[in-house]
Amino acid sequence: MSTRSTVILGTGSYAPERILSNDDLAHMVDTSDEWIRTRTGIRERRIAAPDQAASDLAVPAARRALEDAGLTPADIDLLVVATVTPDTPMPACACFVQQKLGVPTHSACFDLNAACSGFLYALDTACALLGSGRYRKALVIGVEKLSSVVDWQDRTTCVLFGDGAGAVVVGCSDEPGRGLLGTCLGSDGSSTELLCIPRGGSRAPSTCESIAARDHCIRMKGKEVFKLAVRGMDEAARDILEQHAVRADQISLVIPHQANLRIIEAISEYLELPMERFYVNVERFGNTSAASIPLALDEARRAGRIRPGDLVLLVAFGAGLTYGSALIRW
Ligand code: UT7
Repeated sequence: MSTRSTVILGTGSYAPERILSNDDLAHMVDTSDEWIRTRTGIRERRIAAPDQAASDLAVPAARRALEDAGLTPADIDLLVVATVTPDTPMPACACFVQQKLGVPTHSACFDLNAACSGFLYALDTACALLGSGRYRKALVIGVEKLSSVVDWQDRTTCVLFGDGAGAVVVGCSDEPGRGLLGTCLGSDGSSTELLCIPRGGSRAPSTCESIAARDHCIRMKGKEVFKLAVRGMDEAARDILEQHAVRADQISLVIPHQANLRIIEAISEYLELPMERFYVNVERFGNTSAASIPLALDEARRAGRIRPGDLVLLVAFGAGLTYGSALIRW
């Protein structure tokens, strides 16, 4: 086996300025701060400006990650963007990011959609490509402008989601035992309808009627997804720990997908790992899908919650239904 490992060289994040509080939402739909806080842990979320596309959120996050890594856009030859809310259906959000950031034209740039697990899929893809020796430095971004696909009249979903971006720069290292130790990705396509955007794709292109019915917006069967999310994230975490013969108590910090505080608390209980070992920012950002893990990772690092040598576990679950975990020796 090659000793070439892939390491995270820098992290960055960006959240749009506008804050939408639970009280603001209570003026829009029949809900309350109390209901949202007790059921989800969310207090507020960020909402992008109308003229900000996903790439406009991704670029400042990417700049911060590059600065953190001591690199420039010219150093990047692989750019992967995980998102379900690209600027346009075609071309890829990654191409807009490339142009705005000034990533060289010989770079490979593409989007990847694995919903809330998207960042872990993108990280795994980038690391595999770097490991192949065909690329040298990758920029991996998770970004969402979910406010553009939220049904603002549906109280069961509109209180949950927010906008944001997180990015990491990944490179190779000859130091064995450091960096990305492994990933565990999976998907169960038998329950696609539990969390989806029903129309606007090739199966059912949008019509005036479907737009009036807001069928181009997120629909979720929350209760079912909740149970599957707890089970899926618990299993994904256990699988990666088992594969690497690591005990849960050896993990310094878990960065879970931030969908609901109660899901994170359930995983903490199942893994018998105290909540202090989990990084949580869902109260300030809500669920930002593919952006949630890299945004939390960047915050955790900058807050001094991750030190060299720490074992960090990333774990996600989302539409698809997709799931994933990653183990990193920092
Ligand atoms: O990112 C991918 C993963 N996504 C997730 O993991 C999300 C998973 N699901 C959840 O987080 C939770 O299921 C929700 C937060 C979405 C819902 O919480 P819940 O405890 O499962 O509530 P519920 O759907 O069972 O609804 C309970 C009640 C219902 O009223 P009735 O039928 O009991 O009279 C809902 O109509 O709460 C009502 N309700 C609300 N009330 C006030 C639903 N949404 C709201 C709301 N404000 N926003």
